[in-house]
Amino acid sequence: MRILLFTGKGGVGKSTVSAGTAAMSAARGLRTLVLSTDAAHSLGDAFGVGHALGSEPVEVADNLYVQHVDAQRRFEESWAEVQGYLLSVLDTIGVDRIAAEELTIIPGAEEVFALLELRRMAVSGEWDTIVVDCAPTAETLRLLALPEALGWYLERILPVQRTMVKALKPVLTKAAGVPMPGDSVFDALVRLHGELAEVRELLSGPEASVRIVLTPERVVLAEARRSWTTLSLYGYRVDGVVANRIFPAGGSDDWRAGWVKAQDDVLSDVGASFEGLPVWRSFYRPTEPVGVEDLREVAEAAYAWTGSVDPLAVPDTPAPFRTETDGETTAVRLALPGLAQWVERDQVQLGRNGDELAITVGAYRRLLTLPAALARMRVSGARVEGGELRVTFSRQTTNTESETS
Ligand SMILES: Nc1ncnc2c1ncn2[C@@H]1O[C@H](COP(=O)(O)OP(=O)(O)OP(=O)(O)O)[C@@H](O)[C@H]1O
Ligand SMILES: [Mg+2]
Repeated sequence: MRILLFTGKGGVGKSTVSAGTAAMSAARGLRTLVLSTDAAHSLGDAFGVGHALGSEPVEVADNLYVQHVDAQRRFEESWAEVQGYLLSVLDTIGVDRIAAEELTIIPGAEEVFALLELRRMAVSGEWDTIVVDCAPTAETLRLLALPEALGWYLERILPVQRTMVKALKPVLTKAAGVPMPGDSVFDALVRLHGELAEVRELLSGPEASVRIVLTPERVVLAEARRSWTTLSLYGYRVDGVVANRIFPAGGSDDWRAGWVKAQDDVLSDVGASFEGLPVWRSFYRPTEPVGVEDLREVAEAAYAWTGSVDPLAVPDTPAPFRTETDGETTAVRLALPGLAQWVERDQVQLGRNGDELAITVGAYRRLLTLPAALARMRVSGARVEGGELRVTFSRQTTNTESETS
């Protein structure tokens, strides 16, 4: 099963290109699902089926199904138990019901549940291709950082909480009348934790990749470069770029000639910025591409630009995170492509705390839990070189203090 995610700045054509890619996959006879995690669903409009779409996949052509994830419903299914408990606590301490409901809605919840829905579809075994039309870049980056971040958090609070609850139960129930969480609350959290781990495995696995959609404009390109680095930091493979809404040359209009020239300049920078990745080109059409056929044509035309790359095949892009052992030392290599173009070397920071490595790139940070074998070793060096961060570990028992470089 192939999972393709499309992201990019607002309005660049993510929905158009993802819908088109899905239509193309379906036309090849692959059972294809395209779903959007963006709350502002527009797939229905692109396919010309309006808002007839529901939270379950709807067939719009042979082999082609579309789904608008109903985050609210998934939220209710997975979080209701935990929320119910939190509400009863807040009620006991006198928090007004409306305010309490606000408080128990976790930030980013909608996005988390969109991911859980993606997982449900992926494990159903029903699909050959799943195309995900993501929200604009910033939200997508937050979304894709969530499974690991939330997993990290749950791993740390779960065992502590369970022990604490056992110890405090008799005291608390008597003293303040605060209800204690039942096993079902913990079970719900444990299940959530497991499902998020699966989401992470699916999305960082070899069959999943992210494509960046952009329009040939400086500001859009700058954001696209940053997202390439950041996606890699979080462990996702980026396997290509779609440059959309390119003005075709021709005619004798100065205004048009001006745009064609300006876009050409940016396009050559796109090529240089995303070296090693296919850059597909999609021209500005005279009308909005709407409906299965139009969308499929847009995608076919774009992917034909680099004829040798099959846009639906599993890419041979290596995983951004790799380890290499050579005698007494092990090197962890984290690809941070495009880094040099937007970040100063000193904006990359590395911290170590026990079995964790905290990597900060500009405003983004990833807490990486080291494999057991590395956790026992000492960091003996770190450098940024050739688009990757390379951290070397030496075999020597660590002392527990943290080291920062
Ligand atoms: N190559 C193209 N030629 C002509 N019109 C296009 C092209 N690509 C996209 N459009 C149109 O541009 C508009 C925005 O496209 P689309 O909705 O796919 O962008 P998006 O990145 O998903 O936007 P959002 O960030 O709002 O989700 C739509 O009206 C779409 O039909
Ligand atoms: Mg969209």
